[in-house]
Amino acid sequence: MKLSFFSVKVVFAVFIVLFSAPLFSDDEAVVEVRPTRAYRSISDVELDVPYVPTPQPVVEAMLKLAEVKKGDVVYDLGCGDGRIVVTAAKKYGVRGVGIDLDPDRIEDSKENIKKNKVEKLVTVRLGNALETDVSEATVVTLYLLPSVNLKLKPILKKQLRPGARIVSHAFDMGSWEPEKEVTVKYEGAPYMIYLWRIPEEKKEEKATKPAKKAPAKKKGK
Ligand SMILES: C[S@@+](CC[C@H](N)C(=O)[O-])C[C@H]1O[C@@H](n2cnc3c(N)ncnc32)[C@H](O)[C@@H]1O
Repeated sequence: MKLSFFSVKVVFAVFIVLFSAPLFSDDEAVVEVRPTRAYRSISDVELDVPYVPTPQPVVEAMLKLAEVKKGDVVYDLGCGDGRIVVTAAKKYGVRGVGIDLDPDRIEDSKENIKKNKVEKLVTVRLGNALETDVSEATVVTLYLLPSVNLKLKPILKKQLRPGARIVSHAFDMGSWEPEKEVTVKYEGAPYMIYLWRIPEEKKEEKATKPAKKAPAKKKGK
């Protein structure tokens, strides 16, 4: 039996539909990056942390650990090529804000946002992580250094609302015990990620703060 050109095309199309589905499964990377520019910076800005991108499967695990859901606002402090906020927008439909001190990384992020068509959800801006107002964030992601995490700790504790989550790739927050620690295996290497949550008591602490004591009366008056 001879197959017409049309039937060959139909069989080929059915084959593609049937067998390409796993390529778009939930676990797949949703953000493409161009590794060629990954480590390059032409600007002479002094960074607190060098640029090393988080592998995409680790990005996905970080967002899962943070339990990102509709309505969240994700901030990535030191956003690199924007992969964390772009993935959050693409996968969970949430708003993302990326901050980076390196203008080259901001350019990379903008390209990534465009490529992934998440312009309506993700914004990036040049700035210092240590001077950023994060009070609107419900999730903050970090891949910085232990010394920078320690400087950020009081800022995050002060500005974030109860219930907000912080997820850090590779580095902890010193004496602040994480709620969870997860090891993600990727290409045979282990990647540590940590989760903290701003406690609900923060609100109660304020509400039940004892009133200032009146100064004691001096004897004989
Ligand atoms: C290790 S990379 C992480 C990139 C991205 N968050 C990721 O996980 O793929 C650290 C990023 O922080 C940026 N950075 C370094 N010091 C910074 C600072 N003080 N404020 C904001 N960004 C900073 C670097 O330019 C770099 O892009």
